Amino acid sequence: MSGRAALKGRGCLRREGLMEGNNKDRIKNIDTVIFDMDGTLYDTESIYKAGWLAAGVPLAVYQSFIGTSSSFINETLTANGLDAAEIVAAKVAYTENELSKGVPIKDGALTALIWLKERGYKTAIATSSTVATAQRYLEATGMAEYFDKIVSGNQLERGKPCPDIFLMAAGELGSSPEKCMVAEDSFNGVRAGNAAGMYTVMIPDLIQPDEEIKSLADELLTTLAGIPDLLDTEGSRADYEMLAEQIRSLAEAKPHWLPVMANTAAALFGAMDNINWAGFYLADQSGGGLTLGPFQGKTACISIARGKGVCGTALLKDEVIAVPDVHRFPGHIACDSASRSEIVLPVRAGGRTAAVLDIDSPVRARFTQRDREGLERIVHILEETADLEGCLTVV
Ligand code: SME
Repeated sequence: MSGRAALKGRGCLRREGLMEGNNKDRIKNIDTVIFDMDGTLYDTESIYKAGWLAAGVPLAVYQSFIGTSSSFINETLTANGLDAAEIVAAKVAYTENELSKGVPIKDGALTALIWLKERGYKTAIATSSTVATAQRYLEATGMAEYFDKIVSGNQLERGKPCPDIFLMAAGELGSSPEKCMVAEDSFNGVRAGNAAGMYTVMIPDLIQPDEEIKSLADELLTTLAGIPDLLDTEGSRADYEMLAEQIRSLAEAKPHWLPVMANTAAALFGAMDNINWAGFYLADQSGGGLTLGPFQGKTACISIARGKGVCGTALLKDEVIAVPDVHRFPGHIACDSASRSEIVLPVRAGGRTAAVLDIDSPVRARFTQRDREGLERIVHILEETADLEGCLTVV
């Protein structure tokens, strides 16, 4: 069934043509953000998918009910000649076992939630799962404080793609649809957000949007850490394009890694607001840890073991790590006790990790998706332009 047919069949209206023009004005009015839960806040959709498939649900049937209510799922299973009770029991057994190992939080979720809470936005979870499941996940992850309300599709007759759940959440928060943003990963969720007349942001999880869904979503984001970038229409922002070009010119003039890293640290420290440390740690190539390199800020730890702290973890995993609240990161190394959030990016040379770029902030959730992408671009320019192989043998 197409999305349009799904909406029509369930008596829901569909809003069209919102992409043109007035998005900025709409954003300014937003005071409430309503989050879908599975696949949006928590990386549970992939666990559920594996559970349904292991229980014997064909992929196409699973895809037709992602993001809907349990009654719709039961109807769909039965309509496809499957024993709904047996399948649901097998799926629950599988997912319970997986979730007992921990509830995985989606990348960027805490950045968005901390940012919203500190600025007084109202927030809700609107989920097709039960309220009890939502409470359990929030408790397991220490995230209950970030939500004012939880509403469940089970409290309503019509689940997503109908708008009822989002309208109920807005009503319970004393907000109105034009003041609400919806964050969703599923097609049916985007249809519901759109039909509710809310600013609908899609953060694709397992499935990328098709043309219909692109036309219904007001914005597509790669992670929830892009929500502050959308809402912060007045904030002062580093011009990463300009910084990147400045760093490229400096590196082209003298590619030696030492002056390039020193000037990059100074350029970032000068251009980014709310920063208390910016600099490099150099990686020991014989499998050891990190040694302090050029930086700006207070004196810092000289050595960090591989796998320790945020920097040592970024080195070990060879990936970018953004930490919205350092107190939630086990083993965070507090060089400056003022630091509240941090981002660390590996810098590569000759197929190896030569160093990490580390930036600290005295405010929580300082590093949004835009910061991450801007800093990734700068690191890429260093890798392309500077002679980083020279630093492989220094420590
Ligand atoms: N906080 C870092 C240590 C380096 S300082 O922040 C400069 C970490 O946990 O790895």
